Amino acid sequence: MYTSEQQRTLFEQSKQLLQPAAGLPLTEDAFALATLLRQLIRFHEWRYSVQNDPVISDFEYDQLYKQLEAVENQFPETHTADSPTRRVSPDLTENFTLVAHLTPMLSLGNSYNADDLNDFDEQIKKLCNLPKDAAIAYCVEPKYDGGTIALVYENDQLTRGATRGNGEMGDEITANMRTLRSIPLQAAFASRGIAKAELRGEALIRKDNFEKINKKRQDAGESLFANPRNAATGALRMKDPKESAARGLEAFIYQLGYAIDATGNNVMQSFQSHDESIHLLESLGFKTPLAKTGVTQHLPATKTCANIQEVIDFCLAWQDYRDEYPYELDGMVVKVNLLELQALCGYTSHHPRWAIAYKFKARQATTRLRDVEFQVGKSGAVTPVAKLEPVALAGVTVSNVSLHNEEFIRTKDIRIGDQVLVERAGDVIPYIVKSLAELRDGTEQPVVYPKNCPVCHTPLIKPEEEAIWRCENAECEAQVVQRMIFHTSKHAMDIEGLGESTIEKFYKLGWLHSIADLYRLDYEAIAKLEGFGEKSANNMRSALEKAKNNPVYRLLHSLSILHLGQKGSKLLAAEIGHVLELKDWDLERYQEIKDVGPVLARNVYHFFHTDHNIALLQTMEQLGVNLTQTEDDKKPESAIDGPLSGKSILFTGTLTTCTREQAEARAAAAGANLASSVSKNLHILVAGEKAGSKLKKAQALGTVEIWTEAEFLDRVQAPEASE
Ligand code: IVH
Repeated sequence: MYTSEQQRTLFEQSKQLLQPAAGLPLTEDAFALATLLRQLIRFHEWRYSVQNDPVISDFEYDQLYKQLEAVENQFPETHTADSPTRRVSPDLTENFTLVAHLTPMLSLGNSYNADDLNDFDEQIKKLCNLPKDAAIAYCVEPKYDGGTIALVYENDQLTRGATRGNGEMGDEITANMRTLRSIPLQAAFASRGIAKAELRGEALIRKDNFEKINKKRQDAGESLFANPRNAATGALRMKDPKESAARGLEAFIYQLGYAIDATGNNVMQSFQSHDESIHLLESLGFKTPLAKTGVTQHLPATKTCANIQEVIDFCLAWQDYRDEYPYELDGMVVKVNLLELQALCGYTSHHPRWAIAYKFKARQATTRLRDVEFQVGKSGAVTPVAKLEPVALAGVTVSNVSLHNEEFIRTKDIRIGDQVLVERAGDVIPYIVKSLAELRDGTEQPVVYPKNCPVCHTPLIKPEEEAIWRCENAECEAQVVQRMIFHTSKHAMDIEGLGESTIEKFYKLGWLHSIADLYRLDYEAIAKLEGFGEKSANNMRSALEKAKNNPVYRLLHSLSILHLGQKGSKLLAAEIGHVLELKDWDLERYQEIKDVGPVLARNVYHFFHTDHNIALLQTMEQLGVNLTQTEDDKKPESAIDGPLSGKSILFTGTLTTCTREQAEARAAAAGANLASSVSKNLHILVAGEKAGSKLKKAQALGTVEIWTEAEFLDRVQAPEASE
């Protein structure tokens, strides 16, 4: 589109014009100035909206825009129809006019797996009369999930924008399309001998922008959009183009649908391939699948593949990275690259035979809400959980979804028996987007919040500052079990082999009454349990023995004190020599710790002034659990001089002779810097047992030294030895 030389000049000219204004020019200069400003503004719109990489600030852009407005207002004869100031026309579009597309806008066939894509490839070869082992080149592009648009350019000017409509006819939305800065109002098609062209593309809203729009709507008490696509298709057809512009729509152009020269001859044949036509569109200033869009770190957005296997690999890889893409995608589109072969394939009445969509696994689905159950958490919070008719979402079956709190159920008007729209995006926990009130048949029942704890029947209380109801009976069976589950979890004492189902089982057997009982389990009895055996009983014993030596911040965190997270636990641990000192602290002493607020201070104070909690900790200490602050508790700063000075180090997998914290403390004492992930900058990876993806990544990089735990211990002088 622009050479670097041109870009430099445009940038410098912009900077000159951004100097304090020297007043308006004389009439004879006005034309030149308006032309220059238009050129500069177009350039900056392209950098910002197409390249996603502006070279001046929004403020500076506004200054240039205002200068152009001023010149055009002062000298109306300088105004042109394709001026960036004419993007938003003041007229309201009352009704949309139906317009006929220059060629029908067809749909796409679908594929869902490698077999489907192989079948497609086979079919193409048949249609093109090519041998079975021929390699066909395909372009693979994102399948954007927004509102489909068709743009017509005549004599290099944007003359019409339309929605897809029924494929033959669509709504004319030119005024709205002109507000999109990613759509050039003029483009040099004539340079390729094209007098009239129709382009196909998709208008989208970035996912982060969509979140902001919904947040604003929520604050204004308006209904929320279910997804970015709905927000985008709505924006396309706004009556007021200014509104449309305000939603931040962007247009990706993925197809040159029609092109004729000045004499009306079809010039599509002058292109050899689809990717050639996309490169042309890119060079004319359009945002195409070639645009830099943020996933470049792992995958390009589009690829011309040499054969179907490359297509399959690319599509499967994209399925894993789709969440990194700033826009919503519902799959990839695979297109035969050579136009000559496309012509041999032809069309059905529904779709081109030379293209197919590869659909990602659906992430939204509707299902019936069977019931709502109320679950009691470790601190007594009562959470409503939707019991759904099981539904497959992005590869997993979802049947339980949290409804968070009473307010969530009320604002979404969720009723038992409703059809609900469920979404599972990436690693995000599945959630209910909305209930489909229009599908109700009158049998749906409102969700009734319990007045008493569903487990111990204590009346529930809703603290003023909170959104949730709580069971305040600390001895409530549900809370006791949840606290044990949390105690052994990875973030707390990290006791492997003692997960949710084992704890529930031991609890039912009457072996566990409090977390102290975890440290006096009868391993002989465990070994005899069905599904356990000697080996897992022994593993459990070593995991528990190891946990006894955990630093005290882990123990503090594992006690399930309301609002006391890992960070707070570390702050607290740093102030004490022994956990039981905390029973002698008064409330003010807690509040003296920086970053400990009054609510947390009260909760911790309350915990350590409750007799049975102190008794519990004393029992745990008798059973060998460490309550004493050790040097390892405080991660030492890296030593300046040591065997690992200047090296970055990371631990992965399970260490057998010491805890992760102890190993990190030793590494730091030996001068190493602790890294948080595997990268080119990492020097050493210590791989313990069952090391997984981090080890693989380090091996693949080839630049990281990989040590066993024993090697690591050899290299660092153990603190005991140096004392
Ligand atoms: S090509 C004749 N390419 O998918 C060409 N379509 O079912 C047919 N879509 O609503 C379309 N991204 O708007 C093509 N890179 C892409 C696309 C794409 C999204 C949409 C298209 C239409 C639907 C086709």
